[in-house]
Amino acid sequence: MPTTVREVRAKAGEEPITMLTAYDAVTAELVDEQGIDVILVGDSVGNTKLGYDSTLPVTVDQMATATEAVVRATEDALVVADMPFLSYGHDETKSVENAGRMLKEAGAHAVKLESGPHTVELTETMTQLGIPVMAHLGLTPQRVNQLGYARQGTTQEAAEEMLELARAHEEAGAFSLVLEHVPANVAADVTGAVDIPTIGIGAGPDCDGQVLVVDDAVGLSDWTPSFVEEFGNVREAMTDAIGAYRDAVESGEFPAEEHSHVEGDLDTLY
Ligand code: KIV
Repeated sequence: MPTTVREVRAKAGEEPITMLTAYDAVTAELVDEQGIDVILVGDSVGNTKLGYDSTLPVTVDQMATATEAVVRATEDALVVADMPFLSYGHDETKSVENAGRMLKEAGAHAVKLESGPHTVELTETMTQLGIPVMAHLGLTPQRVNQLGYARQGTTQEAAEEMLELARAHEEAGAFSLVLEHVPANVAADVTGAVDIPTIGIGAGPDCDGQVLVVDDAVGLSDWTPSFVEEFGNVREAMTDAIGAYRDAVESGEFPAEEHSHVEGDLDTLY
């Protein structure tokens, strides 16, 4: 049985929650096999896989396709689908339909909304309709044109606003809260102020869980933010393997005899 939102919620303050992104079946299988609690099909797919320079162009269809692939390969983790830019927030019916697709068609267990004052009511509506919502405060990359990628919650006023929004989303029914790129002391205060688990990325050690973009965590990205630790060097391993393949084809070493099959009766075709 996959992990449930109730199980993730119950881990708050008890055990660290692990979350990684995945956008395809192979990666999801590897992440799931390692016992990661939550797989986020992030709209970071726009930057990591689709070649966009922000998450803004990502569509509901692209998110649904990636989510389906992840769900097919996942046995144990909770799968959360990110709602892409402008697929929610402006029209409640459309927002619910789009989020509903992630559960009905793609098989996700929950959705994530980049949150603000405009998502409190929507979080309540979705939760009441049976769509579990993960909230997201701090740096919200869909607001790149207003905020850039700067650390958030760095003034007393901004930190207090974040705390209020965290409480409002908890009250609205969100089952967890991502805190992205905020000072560690602010994340610690927010974590202490709500009962739902906070999951930090660039938010220090006091959150209830941690999330990273999988490409960053395994060392596949060509650039990573300062708060990322690379736990492998997949980029170098892939570069070496691709170069070795090119060399082997160019030198005639590949394919060798063991890679080829000769059918005895077909010695002379002409
Ligand atoms: O899209 C994403 O990968 C995210 C995480 C960075 C939390 O929202």
